[in-house]
Amino acid sequence: MEFTTLKGFKDILPEESARWQEIETNARALFSTFGYREIKTPVLEKTALFSRGIGRETDIVSKEMYSFEDIKGRGLTMRPEATASVVRAYIQHRLYRNYPIQKLYAMGPMFRHERPQKGRFRQFHQINVELFGDPGPQSDAEIIILAMYFFEMIGLRDLTLHLNSLGCPDCRPDFKEKLKRYLAERTSSLCADCQKRAQLNPLRVFDCKVETCKSVVQNAPAIPAFLCRDCRDHFGSLKATLDALNIPFEVNDRLVRGLDYYNRTTFEIQTEHLGAQNAVAGGGRYDGLVKTLGGPDHPAIGFAVGIERVVALLEASKPAELRKPDLFIAALGENVSLPAFQWMTALRKQGLWVELDYGGKSLKSQMKKANRLDAQNVLIVGDDEAAAKKAVLRDMNTGEQIDVGFNNLVSTLKDML
Ligand code: HAM
Repeated sequence: MEFTTLKGFKDILPEESARWQEIETNARALFSTFGYREIKTPVLEKTALFSRGIGRETDIVSKEMYSFEDIKGRGLTMRPEATASVVRAYIQHRLYRNYPIQKLYAMGPMFRHERPQKGRFRQFHQINVELFGDPGPQSDAEIIILAMYFFEMIGLRDLTLHLNSLGCPDCRPDFKEKLKRYLAERTSSLCADCQKRAQLNPLRVFDCKVETCKSVVQNAPAIPAFLCRDCRDHFGSLKATLDALNIPFEVNDRLVRGLDYYNRTTFEIQTEHLGAQNAVAGGGRYDGLVKTLGGPDHPAIGFAVGIERVVALLEASKPAELRKPDLFIAALGENVSLPAFQWMTALRKQGLWVELDYGGKSLKSQMKKANRLDAQNVLIVGDDEAAAKKAVLRDMNTGEQIDVGFNNLVSTLKDML
């Protein structure tokens, strides 16, 4: 075939889209009970928003962005994540104007030029949740609980919450310095990229997938020992809140996450059933990002769920519940085709899924079609029925048949089905 999807891009076919809708509907319902409202930002933004927001030394910015110059020579990028865009919108529209706490969620496609593999695509979809305006650990707890409830609500189990604190501008420089020194002594074991990172942004060495770099990092200094008192208290209070709410977690002091904007709390929700791409959600606090991008000094925390990974896990664990037609109208003959069309339209307006064959086929072939569609009931109406002013309603599960008079046919069926 001449035209197919690009590598790492995929179509979501109708069989799968029911699952997507289920996930998105559950997310919207849950988020609104936590007070979050939807924001939709454009897919295309200025490249500088991401390079400044996410960090130039990150893999995302240095290797994975779909960036190009438009016809006027402006540097544009297909968003690789949503947080920078939501922050841009928060600043641009001064969403903090009337009330400092803003709770927002966003859903949609993201683009990263990564090597495609199981659970990793070049176009993928996220559900993002962001909370602006509160620096305290209870906001961290709210965000994490929301993520965990979401997975519980959609029926995903066997997930582990990994938690870490990355410190703040007061304590992190000290840690970075120690890490730099540690890495400098082991430069020859690092890959070329990490040799650069070790100088410019040593935390990014933790993200490297090269085996030798991974083993160097294994014994590197860990952040917890460097946390200042405030960061320790913040982290302690978050852990106590999660304990009090019976949310199990594992502290993972190597969890730095691949984006530069994080400080203090970072977390990832992981599964063992997706191979190397084990994170179904990740997030953390980014207290400096609003200011970095030109806004007021407002703290924030958030996370994003990867929808493709959630879909893959759900597909493996339980079949999607697909809606079936409530009624198939098998209309036989010219005389009944218009009334059948009217009944179908009226019933659809009442919320029933009704199908009708427009081709005027035989009863046998229409029954076959009703079966293929898995229609729950069939209304059979031919010339004889039209003369007697009644149709036959067959329950396709039990085979039972009853007559339904033409008078009040729509309201009778609405009540019955
Ligand atoms: P992230 O960890 O880069 O964080 O992505 C979040 C989630 O998106 C991952 O846990 C994963 O489920 C999914 N994901 C990422 N890349 C891919 C891919 N190539 N293919 C399929 N799924 C993928 C962020 O994007 C942050 N903006 C999250 C955040 C929000 N932090 C604070 N607020």
